[in-house]
Amino acid sequence: MQVIIKQSHADIADLVSEKFLRLIRNKPTAVLGLATGSTPIASYQALIRKLKSAALSVSQVTTFNLDEYVGLHDLSQSYQTFMDENLFKFLDFNPKKHHFPSEQNLGHYDQMIVEHGGIDLQILGIGPDGHIAFNEPGTPFDSKTHLADLEESTRVANARFFSSLEEVPTKAVSMGLATIMAAREIVLIATGSNKADAVRSMLAGVANLDCPASVLNSHSQVTIYLDEEAAARLY
Ligand code: F6R
Repeated sequence: MQVIIKQSHADIADLVSEKFLRLIRNKPTAVLGLATGSTPIASYQALIRKLKSAALSVSQVTTFNLDEYVGLHDLSQSYQTFMDENLFKFLDFNPKKHHFPSEQNLGHYDQMIVEHGGIDLQILGIGPDGHIAFNEPGTPFDSKTHLADLEESTRVANARFFSSLEEVPTKAVSMGLATIMAAREIVLIATGSNKADAVRSMLAGVANLDCPASVLNSHSQVTIYLDEEAAARLY
């Protein structure tokens, strides 16, 4: 596991987007594992800029998103809409090559990933409680794509995207920890002081169920990108 600490989120976005760009250049049929939330937005913006200026096509790229809410009243809050608005609509992706977990496909989402050759590069954020995707503390390390209950703290953290806390769903379908660990390469970004505790327990060196992100310690190709605030409790 490599840990890279940068001064600004923009520096991190530059490095992460470069990794994605290199992959797409070398493998136009790449399979990407994608995340939503605030964390990946800057990297997606940098990637859009770089792909456009390199005139590179993503028409053969396949994407698998980490998670999707269940029971949304307003579909404009879906992660699918988030991806359209923050990445997909700016590039020449083939919409048929986008995949999101759902109640309908959760039993075979992992198999779908395998059938597409596996995820080449997975991007992750981390929750203040150490969750990755919607794998909350206590989720078994061998979990596959499943229906997950959202912790109250996660609903509160995500309420900023909704008009009230009541509107935030209580359930989501999420890749499991084993699904994520099957990716060939993983990048995790954490910025801001509210991630500092989670980052510290993730990097404590021992995988423990209280910090789902700590499972990444046993993956051979993981890079963790931190800003100084997120890294503040490592010293
Ligand atoms: C989103 C996801 C979540 C977020 C995490 C951090 O697809 O899987 O685990 O990465 O909740 O969210 P932000 O980036 O909004 O701080």
